[in-house]
Amino acid sequence: MRLQPTIRLAKRSDIALMASLSRREIEHGLPWSWTPTRIKRFLALSSSNAYVVDIDGQFAGFSISSLGDARAHLVLLAVEPKWRKQGIGKILLDWQVQAARTAGLTDMSLEVRSMNKVAQLFYAAAGFSRIRSLPKYYCGIEDAVRFRMQPIRESQWAIRSNSSKSASQSKKFS
Ligand SMILES: CC(C)(COP(=O)(O)OP(=O)(O)OC[C@H]1O[C@@H](n2cnc3c(N)ncnc32)[C@H](O)[C@@H]1OP(=O)(O)O)[C@@H](O)C(=O)NCCC(=O)NCCS
Repeated sequence: MRLQPTIRLAKRSDIALMASLSRREIEHGLPWSWTPTRIKRFLALSSSNAYVVDIDGQFAGFSISSLGDARAHLVLLAVEPKWRKQGIGKILLDWQVQAARTAGLTDMSLEVRSMNKVAQLFYAAAGFSRIRSLPKYYCGIEDAVRFRMQPIRESQWAIRSNSSKSASQSKKFS
């Protein structure tokens, strides 16, 4: 059956789910950095931009970025394991890339754990370039790999799907 994902701005009631997904799927094996309190504080900043994808009313994934004066930084992005490999990550990333472009920014970066090869393939497929390794970036425990897109282009995925822009990417702002 075809998925019907809905993307919308994140709400206060999503914070616990975002923090839990980050804990389980991004920060596993590291001290919990993106706690509900930290996410709540981050979302209160005027520079933050956060989306949630729901499927049949269920939380399926989220992304958070910081849109600064000159640069965008993708802070967190994760999809619940049962919804992976079905294009949800693409939707979340495309919306962040598009938001940064709309804000007039030309430079977007992010860090990924060095052991997270799937995420590295995901960002490379979206058009990000691997810039450098950051030794012991995560709590002095694990290296990070920094990715960057400059200038920020529409992703290859968005270009391919533009002609039939999506029945499946309806926008529902809260
Ligand atoms: C990385 C992640 C967000 C991808 O989400 P997803 O919804 O499964 O990704 P999509 O289905 O949109 O895939 C988009 C592209 O990424 C690449 N990709 C995704 N999963 C992949 C995998 N397991 N192996 C290889 N490439 C993969 C492919 O190029 C894919 O395009 P294709 O389907 O046309 O081949 C997801 O695996 C995840 O949440 N991981 C845990 C959290 C995390 O690592 N976050 C990123 C670091 S902050």
